[in-house]
Amino acid sequence: MKLTKSFILAIPLLVLLPAVSCGGRAQDAGTDANSALLEKGSRVYRVHCRPCHLPEGNAPVLRMRLNDTQWNHGGSPEEIKKTISEGVNGTQMLSFKYKLSPEEVDAVANYVKNLCVRAQSK
Ligand code: HEC
Repeated sequence: MKLTKSFILAIPLLVLLPAVSCGGRAQDAGTDANSALLEKGSRVYRVHCRPCHLPEGNAPVLRMRLNDTQWNHGGSPEEIKKTISEGVNGTQMLSFKYKLSPEEVDAVANYVKNLCVRAQSK
């Protein structure tokens, strides 16, 4: 018996939503300067943030997850920088203002923003 089968391959439509819900835009790795900034941010993150926030910001505790679109303290670059510099009173999120230089805060804030943008475009 001959059976002609036709397979319809449903091609998932990859909709790359604009990263607005991550709150403002992060620098992407498009240029050398931006990838240098991301690389610097990732080095700071590995040492100072990853022990709590886990790789890719994927902490199981929602308040600590950094790769989702839910920001409890604001997701704009300025707000993220403020959270990192000032910390969150009464929590384990301490102030990094005396531990990191302003440039390191900039770099790691940009890296954190990118975690959300990256997770969205997966
Ligand atoms: C000792 C553990 C610990 C370390 C280290 C740590 N954090 Fe946090 N972080 C937390 C906790 C806990 C919270 C949640 C605070 C709350 O309850 O709102 C948090 C919250 C945050 C938030 C706010 C997220 C939101 O939803 O608005 C950001 C941004 C953040 N951390 C970035 C960083 C960065 C960047 C570093 C490294 C420079 C870092 N954290 C290091 C524990 C830590």
